[in-house]
Amino acid sequence: MTSSKTSPALSRRRFLGAATAAGAGLAAAGSARAEAPKPDPLITDVQDWNRYLGEGVDKRPYGTPSRFEKHVVRRDVSWLTASPESSVNFTPLHELDGIITPSGLCFERHHGGIADIDPASHRLMIHGLVDKPLVFTMEDIKRMPRENRVHFLECAANSGMEWRGAQLNGCQFTHGMVHNVMYTGVPLRVLLAEAGLKPNAKWLMLEGADASGMNRSLPVEKALDDVLIAFAMNGEALRPEQGYPLRAVIPGWEGNLWVKWLRRIEVGDMPWQAREETSKYTDLLADGRSRRFTFFMDAKSVVTNPSPQAPLKHKGSNVLSGLAWSGRGTIKRVDVTLDGGRNWQHARIDGPVLEKSLTRFYVDFDWNGQPLLIQSRAMDSTGYVQPTKEELRKIRGTNSIYHNNGIQTWHVKANGETENVEIG
Ligand code: MTE
Ligand code: CO
Repeated sequence: MTSSKTSPALSRRRFLGAATAAGAGLAAAGSARAEAPKPDPLITDVQDWNRYLGEGVDKRPYGTPSRFEKHVVRRDVSWLTASPESSVNFTPLHELDGIITPSGLCFERHHGGIADIDPASHRLMIHGLVDKPLVFTMEDIKRMPRENRVHFLECAANSGMEWRGAQLNGCQFTHGMVHNVMYTGVPLRVLLAEAGLKPNAKWLMLEGADASGMNRSLPVEKALDDVLIAFAMNGEALRPEQGYPLRAVIPGWEGNLWVKWLRRIEVGDMPWQAREETSKYTDLLADGRSRRFTFFMDAKSVVTNPSPQAPLKHKGSNVLSGLAWSGRGTIKRVDVTLDGGRNWQHARIDGPVLEKSLTRFYVDFDWNGQPLLIQSRAMDSTGYVQPTKEELRKIRGTNSIYHNNGIQTWHVKANGETENVEIG
């Protein structure tokens, strides 16, 4: 073996030798593949999981993650809201990879708690300015032509706590009101064709069956474009938290429009001026005027690793990872700086680049222990470039809550600890 030039064992030993010689000044952790202590009991001793039979099939008819992944959970910020029924929790973005959010980790935003609905008792009514008012059962809906699409849902209030300055320490809290799921559903256009729209049909009102009866007005053009009435996410029934058994999927538009537990669509000729589009989901500008019907979620990105909940632990090679998305199309490019904007490089985009979907990017970099100021900047297929927070505030002032897509800065200190900061 030792005489063979191609022996993997030999080439690995050579690699380690070379790394130690070249990196004499660096800590042992300088190599990405750090040397284990010798002898390493994890190599020399037989471990329990190697000695005893494991659990058999059917131990968990519905699988759950390893017990060593218990920290990978949604989290809330208790002081943000008065009650858990009208509240929000956040997706642990720093623990995830790729572009699909596991169903059990999708952030939740409810205005009246989670409705507990027997699909056999669920109805979707379409009425108003239609030729033929209709009521669909879940079985009716599942007999209509369906489509599969991956889309992000971002609450318009995502990053809303950051308008006046860096506040929450973790991308889970600053950016975790977003998830990205494959939906299966019937295009709303198909359901509306069945009912037949009157010529003066201009707006729809979507209403939920939950205790909040949350409702929103939706322009008919969007309804006829790419809206899905979805019954499945990531291949299985919607989770109760996400609107089981039926929700609206409004690709690229603010999460509040994605009515969960959808029970009614009324067709009209004007918007309804619902609570969620007057006193909420509007943004007060510095001059006292208010923006409303700000449907699109503009291009945005965030570095998920490193971030305050995922500090840097090793010198030498590291993987910077992040997410970018745009409600207006696909992500064309993501730039990353490690030095607060002096130098920018193109991030490596990997995995599917889909319309109105999260997109994964990486920068493979060497860290020698110097402090870093990390930012990412997304550009979408329309050519729009994610603004700095300063640029955003120049136009929007500081009264806003919603639609904060400003560039996020993470400060990595010499010890690897990372915090949420802003730089001027
Ligand atoms: N639909 C109903 N019926 N009730 C609600 O409280 N919350 C809205 C929207 N649809 C809500 C609703 C808001 S503000 C957002 S951001 C999304 O659902 C959140 O979807 P999620 O809980 O699947 O993340
Ligand atoms: Co929301």
